[in-house]
Amino acid sequence: MSTTIQSLRDYRANGQKFSCLTAYDAPFAGLLSDCGIDVQLVGDSLGMVLQGRESTVPVSMEDMIYHTECVARARPESLVMTDLPFMSYATTEQCLHNAARLMQAGAQMVKIEGTDWMAESVRQLTERGVPVCAHLGLTPQFINKLGGYRVQGKGSEAAERMVAHARRLVEAGADVILLECVTASVGTRITREVGVPVIGIGAGPDTDGQVLVLQDVLGISRGHKPRFVKDFLQEGGSVEGAVRAYDQAVKNGEFPENRHSFSG
Ligand code: KIV
Repeated sequence: MSTTIQSLRDYRANGQKFSCLTAYDAPFAGLLSDCGIDVQLVGDSLGMVLQGRESTVPVSMEDMIYHTECVARARPESLVMTDLPFMSYATTEQCLHNAARLMQAGAQMVKIEGTDWMAESVRQLTERGVPVCAHLGLTPQFINKLGGYRVQGKGSEAAERMVAHARRLVEAGADVILLECVTASVGTRITREVGVPVIGIGAGPDTDGQVLVLQDVLGISRGHKPRFVKDFLQEGGSVEGAVRAYDQAVKNGEFPENRHSFSG
């Protein structure tokens, strides 16, 4: 049975954890679906993972449309969520226009990175039938402003600010919150305090769902390996085994462990 936004709400209501992995092409989209992955993210991480770029900043709308179409052609049972790339949602008008292009390419939800400045766009998208995931914490499209890939939400002031931003975006209509590289306590708090499913990556064990980049799960990413990633190929024994091992570890609450989380 296909995963929908309502499935994610039901998982949260029943305390069932759900799994999310990035996918960029049809063969992997089919495999991830067969392995029971609930959400497939056509992430702009493809800029680094597939295109060998330094950051996600150069990724274009054309790239995201192309890879969304590739994933959608596999007709996965997973929910397909696609990133709006850098500056494609800088104004509400651009956001509506570009989100429509992604939905018409096969996305079932769009993801945007930022804080409460996105509230009006979130409101207008969701009122017009576009489910939205708001990505907070470490937002890689802001790397030039952040000055490095660092843990976010450290200290009580930063934590309060992030909780307030998450609440504001949910009030505006965000269907899902995604938290990247935040302290486990912020992950726990936001998951408790907002009434929508929360997906974490380096956000501790308490979020409703977990996401990783597929190539990290397969141990084939190059360069710096963040603390929150785990190579599942060793224990899985094959590509399919690794994806199944990740899915099971998330659903059993065995991943992430403390060593994959941040304190502070
Ligand atoms: O682009 C991506 O893959 C992402 C995940 C790392 C959450 O945004």
